[in-house]
Amino acid sequence: MKVNGHSYRTVWMEGNSVFLIDQELLPFQFRILECRNHRETVGAIRNMNVRGAGAIGAAAGYAMAQAFHEQGGNSGYIQAAKSLIESARPTAQNLFYAVQRVFDAGTVGALAAANAIAKEDADACREIGKIGSELIRDGCRLATHCNAGWLAFVDHGSALSPVYAAHASGKKVFVFVDETRPRGQGARLTAWELKNEGIPHAIIPDNAFAFYAAAGKIDLVIVGADRVAANGDTANKIGTLEKAIIAREYGIPFYVAAPVSTFDKQTATGEGIVIEERGEEEVTMQSGPDETGTIRRIRVASPDSPVFNPAFDITPARLITAYITEKGITETIDPGWF
Ligand code: MRU
Repeated sequence: MKVNGHSYRTVWMEGNSVFLIDQELLPFQFRILECRNHRETVGAIRNMNVRGAGAIGAAAGYAMAQAFHEQGGNSGYIQAAKSLIESARPTAQNLFYAVQRVFDAGTVGALAAANAIAKEDADACREIGKIGSELIRDGCRLATHCNAGWLAFVDHGSALSPVYAAHASGKKVFVFVDETRPRGQGARLTAWELKNEGIPHAIIPDNAFAFYAAAGKIDLVIVGADRVAANGDTANKIGTLEKAIIAREYGIPFYVAAPVSTFDKQTATGEGIVIEERGEEEVTMQSGPDETGTIRRIRVASPDSPVFNPAFDITPARLITAYITEKGITETIDPGWF
């Protein structure tokens, strides 16, 4: 995707450094973060400088390649690095898929495997866009949750890729963007992406979705996925489940867009998916620029109350109309993909 006329991918590697678009600073500042070793890349994943299923996967694959480069195949070092990278975030399947694939490639093949994962991610997302855009009719009013745009992958995105393709083909489309508390990936990242692409949209409070659905103003919902279990149950950003329940109540088609690398055949149902619990500061603090442009953090919740902060929820397969993948649109998961 282009930012200020320059084509970017969200994450790439040069020498032994991993470079990534720092999503922590967006939409207020656009900056590239350099991670000089696998520990720094793990830090960037943990700290959510890079986030979103495919982008985490590509960064994790590159972190594994960095580890091979750092120690030239010392097996204790490589094993410790693998465990460290896998501990960065627990829910996104792409992280585990990428680390294992680069680990299996060994010292000689690590970098090529990491580059292949990044390329395949971008290619799959482009295909998801082409395929998914068929679901978007001219004049469609679509809703999405969190950020499953190009920032969440290496390029193009999953849930937003069909929107970009439909817009590029001349269809009119309007996007309701859930703000996505507590971290605001919708309000900050999805809105920024759509504005850059010139796609009409509006940010809505998370709890306004039912209001617009009940008013007949939403035609279609497309969300991304962090992990899809073998039976189709889907982990995605917290709040996805309630959108799916509301969509079912009001007869709105609810699609999950994800590359095949997000499908986890080892986990039978959503009950087996580990849900990350994040720190309370995500809920109690917010950050943004003051009038001088300096980014500041302020408290937005009463101090000294306990906080619960699950990062994801599980939408049961029965609430999902179909999955949009690079292999096609499907209501059931084909084990032949894996
Ligand atoms: O916690 P995040 O921002 O890494 O959340 C993951 C996500 O980006 C979303 O759940 C997204 O909708 C699916 S990943 C493309």
